[in-house]
Formats: sequence, structure tokens, C-alpha cells
Amino acid sequence: MGLHLYYQGKALLLNIKKEENLLFTFGGRNEGWPTIGRELYHDNEGFRETIQLCNTYLTEMGGSEILSYFEEPVNTSYFEDESKFTCITAIQLATVKKYNDSGIYPNAVMGVSMGELGAAYAAGALTIQEAMSASLGYFTLFKHLEMDYSFIFLNLDYSAAVEFCGNSPVWTEIIFEDSPGAVLITCHKDDLKQLEEQFVAEGLTFKLVTQKFYYPYHSSKIKALETMLKSFHQIIEPKPLKCDYYSPTLGRIIPKNSILATDYWYNLVCGPVLFYTSLKSVIADGYKLLLQIGPPAISDRQLTYAAPALQIQLLNTYQTDSNEIEYDQSINNKLTARTFYKTGVTHDEITTLNEFKRKFNVSDATSTAPFKYLRNNGAIHYLPVNHSWIVLNYDDIERVLRDPQIFSSALLKEYDPILLGADPAQHKIIRTLLQPLFSPAVISELSEFTTITAGKLLDELCQQDSFDFVKDYSDRLSLLVLCNFFGLSAIDAGRMLDYTGKDYHNMLYWQRLEEFFRNEFTTCQLTKEDCLWGKLRDLVQRDEFSFDDAISLLRIVWTAGMATTSALISTSVNITLNEAKLALQIATDEKLVSKFIEECLRMQTPLSAIYRITTEAVELCGQQLPANTTVMLHLASGMSDPAHYTNPAEFSVTRPAKRHLAFGTGIHQCIGMGIARAEARSALQVVLTKLINLQGYSYCEPEYISVSDLKTMSSLKVQRHTKL
Ligand code: HEM
Repeated sequence: MGLHLYYQGKALLLNIKKEENLLFTFGGRNEGWPTIGRELYHDNEGFRETIQLCNTYLTEMGGSEILSYFEEPVNTSYFEDESKFTCITAIQLATVKKYNDSGIYPNAVMGVSMGELGAAYAAGALTIQEAMSASLGYFTLFKHLEMDYSFIFLNLDYSAAVEFCGNSPVWTEIIFEDSPGAVLITCHKDDLKQLEEQFVAEGLTFKLVTQKFYYPYHSSKIKALETMLKSFHQIIEPKPLKCDYYSPTLGRIIPKNSILATDYWYNLVCGPVLFYTSLKSVIADGYKLLLQIGPPAISDRQLTYAAPALQIQLLNTYQTDSNEIEYDQSINNKLTARTFYKTGVTHDEITTLNEFKRKFNVSDATSTAPFKYLRNNGAIHYLPVNHSWIVLNYDDIERVLRDPQIFSSALLKEYDPILLGADPAQHKIIRTLLQPLFSPAVISELSEFTTITAGKLLDELCQQDSFDFVKDYSDRLSLLVLCNFFGLSAIDAGRMLDYTGKDYHNMLYWQRLEEFFRNEFTTCQLTKEDCLWGKLRDLVQRDEFSFDDAISLLRIVWTAGMATTSALISTSVNITLNEAKLALQIATDEKLVSKFIEECLRMQTPLSAIYRITTEAVELCGQQLPANTTVMLHLASGMSDPAHYTNPAEFSVTRPAKRHLAFGTGIHQCIGMGIARAEARSALQVVLTKLINLQGYSYCEPEYISVSDLKTMSSLKVQRHTKL
């Protein structure tokens, strides 16, 4: 027996091969190679079939055919026609497919520029048709942009180059981070001379990449073509990455199992390629074997910078001046002789879905793409990390919210047992009691108060060189309007802030707020008695209401109204400041302001999900749920449900009026929605009247914070331009 084990062990030891990780890399637009893939096309059936499939998709979508590249004599000027670069994407996809057919899959991928399409295909996040559609979009851009831009190789590291571009006397942007001390930048040809003088004045070395002019690829100029470009991305269905994805668009790794938002493919061409940062993280993560699919993404020079002392093997799938078939066979043999770690790319769709659900945490989602993916795979799913069944479709969410007997709010009792967490009978009593305090007259008064307060606030802010729209405008406004609603004077509001602090995302804030309500409940001098605070105090004094219940109501109304409304104001201001055309449209047509607010609520709902618990066994979306099951009603998903909205991903102020779920529905539907809407409308209108003053500022990217299911902007800084 012992001997047997010994021999088994020995045999095992002999069979153990060192496992490696393999990274597929994909280059960008590459013109100096007019023969790549031609021999394989004739020799390899799988390769040829993929190319033919790409050609079918391309021509069906109105693109140029690509078969002549492979079937007709070599044409050295083939890639002078910009629209033919879709052929490179096709070659990359066919090459991936060919390697997959021989059992070779990547453990991670990295694409550069349009090479990201091949990378996403290899990682299972794009189908061939989706990749070809996006490629066609990229190589349609040139038809709409002037070929008037120069590309310059500038010897400056990335952050210094950002500063240089920010201070440059002419428009210039970084389009590619090449290596530690070098970037590619672009500028208009008419500004080139002035820019060159600036380089000389600052003692910088540079070189024109070519005398030719191009369109401003990877720059903010592409944003002018947003609608056109995004139309090519509409067919993309979100799918989880089956392996790690090094993203030069973001300059970081996107881990396996994540889902790329559809906007990713738009953002890719509107900003710089963070190539070197991405390559460095590939190397730092220990990849030693890199296979360049199609035209190379990485040069030996760049690799030497990123991994000076390391032995990295950079294998090319194609080589100029050699027999393509023989070369391909030699690379294939090298790879099949090695053993790689198991890769997720080989998983079938069910395994991929199950793996995704096992790990997915709703709070981590940064776009609606994961919900779309889940919805495409069923209306309800169990998410172990969130300990609940997620419900994704509009109609199903509505059904649950309208059935409070079976789908109870009891889970929310810890926040407030008498209104939000109360079940129907008790809830009705309290809701009826409170409803008159949210009357149209109250809403109208608060709306006027908002207009006056917002006007003063913004006037003050516009005197400053910099401010934060979230902290200094939305938060302050939301706080002051709530204080007014509660009957607190400006002085009391100040005292309250001194006591609670301003960070309402913090648990301590809520504790201190409750203490303030408790301490001040009986003694506080109110500005009016006919308000929430006054009414509750009267009821308590007449022994018709308990002190604790009154405090619970003050707390829940404050909690429910403060962060949510501030988030709505911030979202609407942010969109207005970034979309000049839209801002002008709503500024000149008052009716559109309300529609704009509704669209903000639908597309960027402050509360992304609400929860219910089953009181008895019930069937929901074909799934049997026992009593005491938690269901998560994903409002953001419901409001992007294509069965309920046409083109749900499109922000449109002309969308026909339709219900949405941002305020919930059923008995617990937001009691403060009238206030929230009126307040946001007034706050936005004040911003619209000051658009001219606000044009003198530049805007930083907003920062976000997630506190449970409330995802909100935490900062939107603006800074007065230093020069025109
Ligand atoms: C954009 C701003 C707002 C949003 C997105 C919002 C959203 C919601 C949602 C989704 C619910 C339903 C919760 C559930 O069914 O579990 C709700 C309930 C509630 N909201 Fe709002 N809300 C906002 C503003 C306000 C304001 C300004 C107030 C008060 C001044 C307020 C007070 C309440 C209260 C008290 C409830 C509980 C109602 C009940 O259980 O009958 N909300 N809110």
C-alpha cells in the first residue's frame, strides 16, 4: 500500500508542469502592414469563416466590404481608406477564434485603442457582431470630422503633460500615454506653430509623428458625435468579463466577472489611451507571457521601460517577411506545449451567469449594465451577497409594491415603525394624519422659498473663485427647505448644524440629529405652528401621540427628504452644466424643466432599490418564495426596462409622460414627492437663469458616494477660469 502511494506520488510529481498565465494583447489602428492575415485566410477554415462573418455583419450594417483585402492581389494603399480599418478588427477576432479553436485562451487581455474591441471579444464581453458594429462606428468618425489635426510625440511624463495641456495657449490634448517620459498629443494644424513655440519656450523636446493630418481621435472633440457613435453601441448586450481586463481607457484592471457599461465604448474614443499605466499593471501582476493578437500593441522599447529587469516573453501572432502559415504553426506549437492556469473564458453561459450571481454585490454596481444582463437572463434572481431575490422588471416591481399584505415593509421598522415600516392598517392612520402637511399650498410656499433662497445662495457663490455645487448649493438648499418645512428658523437651522455637523452620510450625523429632535422637541421656538413639528408637538402635549413616535416621524421625514432631494438637485445641475444644448433648450421652454427633472429621476434615481419581506409563501415571476423571504425591488433596473420605456438608455426631455418608480408606488409612495419635485425645479431654474455667469467656470468630474442603496454625488467642484 505504502509503496503504491509512493509510486503514485512520484508519478504525480513527474507530471506536474509549471502553470503559467497568458495575456492576449491587441494593437490599435495600424497601417503599415498590408498583407497580415491573407495567407491564413486561404489556409485556415475557421479563420476564413470568422472573416466572412465579420464581412457579412459589416456590409449588413452599411460598412465597406473587407473580403477584397484577402481575395484580391495585395493592395499596398488599402489602409489609405480609413473605413477599411474595420478589417484589422476582423483579423483580431478571427485570430482569437483560431487560437481558441486550438484550445488556447487568455487568462487576461489588454487592448489598445480600437484593439480593446478584440480584447473584449477574447474576454467574452462582446460578440463578433457587437465588436464589428463598434468598430464600424469608430471608423465612421472620420467622415464627420475634419482631417486637420497634427499628432506630436512630446517628451514629458503624463502628469506634467496634463498640466502643459491645461495651460497651453491653444487647444491641445493628450491622446496616448506612451512611456514614462513621453506622450502623444494632438492640436489643430493651424495652432501647430504656436504650440511648437511654446515647447521651445519651455525647453521641451518633441517630434511630429507624421506630416499627415488626422481627425482628433481619443480627444474630447469626439463628444460632438455622441449620438452617432452611440447608435453603433445600441446592439451591445452587457455580459460579464470571463477573464481580467486591463483597460487603457480607465488605466486600471477591470476584474473578471465585471460588466462593462455600454458607455465604455463611447468613452474609449473621447479620452487618452493610458497605455503605459495599463502595461505596468500587467507586469506588476506577474504576467510573463504576452501574445500579441494581430498587429502588435507593445513595442520592445515600451516593454523595456515597463519591465527593465524582468524576463517577459512577447510573442507575435504575425511576423512580416515570413511564411504566415509556418510562423503561425510555430507559435501555436510553442503555446500548446505549455500549461496555463485554468481560464474562465471557456465557461459556458450558464456557468458564467451562476458565477456572476454568486459574486455580484448590488452596491458595487456603477451602471445599469449588470441589471440589464441579469434581466436578459430572467426576471428574478437570488443574490447571495445581498441575501435577497432581486426583482428587475417594471411591472413586477409595481406588482410587489401594490401588494403590501404579502410584501411587507416590516424590514424597515428599524428606521421607523409607524409609517415607513408599518403595515397597512397602522400606516393608513399615520399617513392620513400627515397628508395635509404636504398639501399643494405647502408645496407652493416651499417652492417660492426655494427660489428666493437658491437665488441668494448662487449669487453669493458666484462671487467666489471656486465652490462645490453639492456641498454649497444642493445640500444647503435641501437643508434650508427642510428646516422651513419643519418650522425651524434660520438661527435654529444653524444651531442644529453646529450640533449634528454637515456630513449626513455619516451614522453619527443621524444619531446627533435624533438627539437634537429629542432635546428640542418641547422647547424649540417654531416659525409656524402649522407644520410637521408643531402638529406632532401638539398631539404629544394632548397625549394623543407618544413622544417616541413623534421623534421617529421627525427623523424619518428628515432622513427620507434630505439626501434624496439634494441628490436630485445635484444630478440635474450636473447634467445642465455639461450639456450646453440641453440647458439652452430647457432654459427657453419652462414646460421642459419638469420633464427634465422626471428624466433625471428616472435615469439617476437617488434610491436605486427598496426592500420588502414576504408574509406568506408566494409565487413571483415563476419563482416560489417562502414566507420571510427578502425581495429587493431594483428601481433603477425597473426604470430602464425596455418593456416599459422606448429607448430606456436615452435621456430625453421629449419622452411622452409616463409613470416611474423613483418615488416608489403603492401605500408607501413618497409622501414628500411634491416637495422634492418643486424644490428641484426651483433650484434648477435659478441655475438656468445664471448660466452665463456659470460659463466662466470650469467643472471637475463629480465624485460619488454610496450609502447603502443611496448613490449620490458627494462633490461637484467648480473653478473660475484663470484665462479666457
Ligand atoms: C428626490 C427626492 C426623493 C426621493 C427619490 C424619494 C424616494 C422615496 C421612495 C422610493 C419612497 C418609498 C419607500 C418604500 O416604499 O419603501 C419614499 C418614501 C417616503 N419619503 Fe421620499 N423621496 C424623496 C424626497 C422626499 C421628501 C422631500 C420627503 C419629505 C419632506 C420625503 C419623505 C418620505 C417619507 C416620509 C416616506 C415614507 C412614506 C410612507 O411610508 O408612507 N421624501 N421616498
